[in-house]
Amino acid sequence: KESLLVDQHGRRLNYLRLSVTDRCNFRCYYCMPEEGINFAPRKELLSFDEMYQLSSLFVGLGVDKIRITGGEPFVRNGIIPFLYRLSELDALKEITVTSNGTLSAQHQSALKEMGIRKINISLDSLNAERFHRITRRDSFDTVYRGVLGLLNDGFEIKLNCVVAENKNIEDIIPFIELTKDHQLSVRFLEEMPFNGSDTFGYSGWDHQRIFDHISQNYRDINKLINEDSSTSVNYQIPGYLGSFGIIPSFSRTFCGTCNRIRLSATGELRTCLYGPPAANLRDLLRSGATNQDLQQILLDAAAKREKDGFAAEALSQESVHTSMSVLGG
Ligand code: GTP
Ligand code: 5AD
Ligand code: SF4
Repeated sequence: KESLLVDQHGRRLNYLRLSVTDRCNFRCYYCMPEEGINFAPRKELLSFDEMYQLSSLFVGLGVDKIRITGGEPFVRNGIIPFLYRLSELDALKEITVTSNGTLSAQHQSALKEMGIRKINISLDSLNAERFHRITRRDSFDTVYRGVLGLLNDGFEIKLNCVVAENKNIEDIIPFIELTKDHQLSVRFLEEMPFNGSDTFGYSGWDHQRIFDHISQNYRDINKLINEDSSTSVNYQIPGYLGSFGIIPSFSRTFCGTCNRIRLSATGELRTCLYGPPAANLRDLLRSGATNQDLQQILLDAAAKREKDGFAAEALSQESVHTSMSVLGG
């Protein structure tokens, strides 16, 4: 069934990114300052019942994929029983998770049991020291072992690697080499201005520069056929088991096929990562909105969706420096 959430540019929104918490056990430089951000008090978070009610509404309108994000989704208590409930929604074809990989291993069997097979893990370096400088936490071994464990267990893994000067340029080629013997995808991301502070210094590693760097090291690079609405352009080194991709998250060349809608942990509905919230569904729910009211609000929000917004424009808005942990990635 086609999603009823459709905008005036013909894009159907069938992919909900649901952030279950703004908290995280990491402090990645590109996401939040060392001291953290003003995390939302518990009562401002959607409860699991509220999240379930809203997710059901989205699914009723034709959303068939939900990605669970955070912050770090596994730091929220009660997440596993919630995922079990969600996985019972018949019309929902796929649940996926984006995690920093510190806690996924301990939930591996539960995830498998409920049919979650695809996990995206943030991993910005294959070197423990650089990993520490990036995340401000000493968890490289845990994350790396976790990734290998998930792979061994048959999970489909994508690594997200935010590329920036003086942070992890040295890791680009080792990451590609990791795909030689491991069936995973490594995706290189342009840094975005969602760092929870009032400054952003883009280091200029855009998709072209990342690709040029890679092509200096490999003679043959095969371009893969893209899935619809994919954010990444994907490639493979001939003979390698895995593949790699580049996500132009800052340049945003993929807005034309974007099928995503976002719900933050505090109920903010966004039809674009770079745009302002269209509504706060938590407030509406708590002030007595019925399912029918909420459905109409979702349909209206989709219809009002902008074609795209440019990063430069977005940069001048106050909301741009909101932490990714609050936006939900
Ligand atoms: P798949 O579902 O596997 O395609 O993953 P994904 O790329 O949607 O999800 P993931 O959580 O791994 O996101 C990786 C990165 O893609 C995000 O951090 C962003 O950099 C980028 N991204 C995802 N959705 C959007 C979007 O709507 N706009 C922009 N600009 N970037 C996005
Ligand atoms: N720029 C680019 N990517 C970011 N992420 C978090 N903050 C930023 C940012 N400022 C990435 C994380 C995670 C994904 C959901 O978003 O690495 O993998
Ligand atoms: Fe945590 Fe992800 Fe933000 Fe890093 S990018 S601090 S792992 S939410």
